[in-house]
Amino acid sequence: MRSAAYPFELAYRLINMFSIKDDIILDPFLGTGTSSLAAMISERNSIGYEIDFKFKEIIENRINNLRDFANSYIDDRINSHVNFINNRIEKKGTTKHHNEIYNFPVVTSQEKTIKINKVKDLNQVSDNEYKVSYYINDYDNLEGAISIEMPIFKKETISPTQENDSLKTKNSVKEV
Ligand SMILES: C[S@@+](CC[C@H](N)C(=O)[O-])C[C@H]1O[C@@H](n2cnc3c(N)ncnc32)[C@H](O)[C@@H]1O
Repeated sequence: MRSAAYPFELAYRLINMFSIKDDIILDPFLGTGTSSLAAMISERNSIGYEIDFKFKEIIENRINNLRDFANSYIDDRINSHVNFINNRIEKKGTTKHHNEIYNFPVVTSQEKTIKINKVKDLNQVSDNEYKVSYYINDYDNLEGAISIEMPIFKKETISPTQENDSLKTKNSVKEV
């Protein structure tokens, strides 16, 4: 089956550049569901339309695998930042800013408070509708990223600021 699926990275980057958490991403030509998947991993709501019923199973399989895919993608994203910043510091010296959550250097002040919440759970609420919950305040889930060997960074313990994780993002996939 031809799908002309977009690379996940492309959808993820565009969604993160041009929307904020809790926004609604609309894809009128959903295909294999890449934009809804990227939205779910980025704490955005999403609505998708797909005329070809053959894609339903593919989309469902991708969504059912969301948690593992999302969390390893997020780990990779953090790890690649750490590699990038280590190389940059080696070549250009230390940066001006520091991310308060992950406790590693960042280049711009906008990156100081970025926290990428991992997917906690996925619930199917109706035939074509899913809800995703995230580890909003679970700082233990940052451990994978923080425990990377970073001799130039100071390692600190970070405490949760609020008690409860909340069911944060609703995502839905619809067909016409
Ligand atoms: C280029 S593909 C989208 C690929 C998608 N971005 C992905 O990553 O898989 C375009 C999709 O639009 C669907 N499509 C075409 N006309 C449509 C319509 N009128 N309503 C809903 N979907 C439609 C096609 O079946 C096809 O799956």
